[in-house]
Amino acid sequence: MADARPFHWEFEPPKVPRERYLVEGGVALDGTIRISGAKNAALKMLAAATLTGERCRFSNVPEIEDVRAMAETLSDLGVVVDHPEQNVYEVSAGDVDWLFVPLEAAAKMRASFMLLGPLLSRFGEVVISNPGGDRIGRRPVDLHVDAMRAMGAQIDYRYGYYYAKAPGRLRGTEVRFPFVSVMGTENAMLAATLAEGHTVLRPAAREPEIDDLIAFLRKMGAEVARTYPDTIEVEGKRRLRGAEHKVMPDRIEAGTFAIAAGVTGGHVVLEGADGDTMRALVQVLHETGITVNSEPERLEIDARSVGPGAMKPVDVTTGPYPELATDIQPPTTVLLTQAAGDSKIHEAIFEDRLEWTGELAKMGAKVELRGPQRAVVHGPTKLHGADVEISDLRAGASLILAALAAEGTSSIGGAHHVRRGYENIERKFLDLGARIERVQEGELDTPA
Ligand code: EPZ
Repeated sequence: MADARPFHWEFEPPKVPRERYLVEGGVALDGTIRISGAKNAALKMLAAATLTGERCRFSNVPEIEDVRAMAETLSDLGVVVDHPEQNVYEVSAGDVDWLFVPLEAAAKMRASFMLLGPLLSRFGEVVISNPGGDRIGRRPVDLHVDAMRAMGAQIDYRYGYYYAKAPGRLRGTEVRFPFVSVMGTENAMLAATLAEGHTVLRPAAREPEIDDLIAFLRKMGAEVARTYPDTIEVEGKRRLRGAEHKVMPDRIEAGTFAIAAGVTGGHVVLEGADGDTMRALVQVLHETGITVNSEPERLEIDARSVGPGAMKPVDVTTGPYPELATDIQPPTTVLLTQAAGDSKIHEAIFEDRLEWTGELAKMGAKVELRGPQRAVVHGPTKLHGADVEISDLRAGASLILAALAAEGTSSIGGAHHVRRGYENIERKFLDLGARIERVQEGELDTPA
C-alpha cells in the first residue's frame, strides 16, 4: 500500500474540469431558496468522527467538493465512509490502517489539517502534510502544532510533513493561544476529548460552527463545554461513542444570497437560515438601507425599495466572531459598489483577501487598495459584464454577485473554486430568477 502513494516531490495536483459561469445580469432576484448545511462545521465533524471506532451519522451535510475531498481523505486512511443518500454521510473509523495525511489531501483543502488532533489523540501518532498557504494569505498552522506540543506531543517538521507522536496519552493542560484561531481551537479541542485530564483553551474562537461541533462531541460522550464566551474546557475521556448529528445552516452561504438580493435590488427568502449567527452582516445590510426580517430558521431580505445606487455607504472591518466574518467580506465589497458614496473596507484577518478586486474592477467597480488589507470602494458604479477569473472560493461567489448586478453578460472562469463550498449555487440562483449557467471547457493543468 505504502509504495502506491506518491512521494512528496512526485506530487502533481490532480486535474480539475475547467468550467465557467455565464451570467446575464440585470434581473432583480425574487423567490425562496433553502440554505444548506455549514461547510465549516461539516468538515470538522467528519474529522471528529475519527475519535471513535463506532459509526457516526451526519445529516444536512452540504454536497460540495470540500466534503467529497474530506471523505476521500478519510477513505484513504482506511476509514469507512458511506454516503447513503443526498446530504447524509456515515463514518466508521474502526480500522484506521494508515496514519498518514498526504500532500494530495492538503493541497485540495486546508481542513485536512483537522485530522491532526483526533488521529494523534486516539492513535498516538500521525504524519500529516503542512497545508501551506493559499490565495487569501500565508495561513500558517503553528498555533495547532503548539497546542499539541503543550499537551505533550512530540512534533518534528521534515520535508513538508509534521511527524507527530504522543507517548502514552496526550495530557490535558491550559492552552493559551496568542490570538484567536478557528481551526486551532477546534484541533486542540478534538485532541483534548481523549487526553488525560482537564484542558482549558483560551482565547477560544467563538464561531457558531465550533458550538455545533461541541454539540456533536457531547453526543459522542465527550465532556466539553464553553464555560465563558472565550473559554472552552474539556475533561478527557478514555473513549467516545458513535453519534448522530444534523449540521447547522451555513451562515456564509446565507449571507452570500442575502447580498445577492441586495445588490440586485431584489426580494429573497432564505429558508433554514439562522439570522442569530449573522448579526454583524445583518447590521451592515440595515445600515445600507436594506430591510432584513429575521425569524427562527428564516431570513427575508428586501432591497426593492432601496435599489442599486440608492444604498448608503458603510465602513466595515472583519474580525473573529461575533464581528463581521472575513468570508463574507468579498460579497460585502460587491454590495458596497452599489452604495452612493465611499465605503472603507478593513480586512483584518487575512493578508491577501482584497487582491481579487482586480477582477471586480474589470466589471467597472472602483475599489482603491490602500495597502494589502485596506480598501475604499467608490460607489455607486454601474457594473458591466466582463470576462473574469476566480482566484478562490469566496472571491468566486462575489464575482457571480457582481455579474448578477451588472448590465450584459459575464464569463467567469474557475468554477471549481466555487463548487468547493457552495452546494448547487447556480440551481439556487436560477430558482431566484437569475440567468446563469455553468459550462464545461476541457481540463485545467492545475487546480490553482
Ligand atoms: C477558518 O480558517 C475557516 N476555514 C475560514 O474559511 C475562515 O476564513 C477563517 O476560519 C476565519 O474565520 C475553515 O473553517 C475550514 P484562523 P482557519 O485560524 O481556522 C492566522 C472559507 O472561505 N493563523 O481562524 O484556518 C491565520 O493566518 C474559509 O470557508 C496563524 O497565524 O482560520 C489568520 O490570519 C477560508 N497560525 C488568523 O490566524 C495558525 O496556526 C485566523 O485564522 C493559525 C492561524
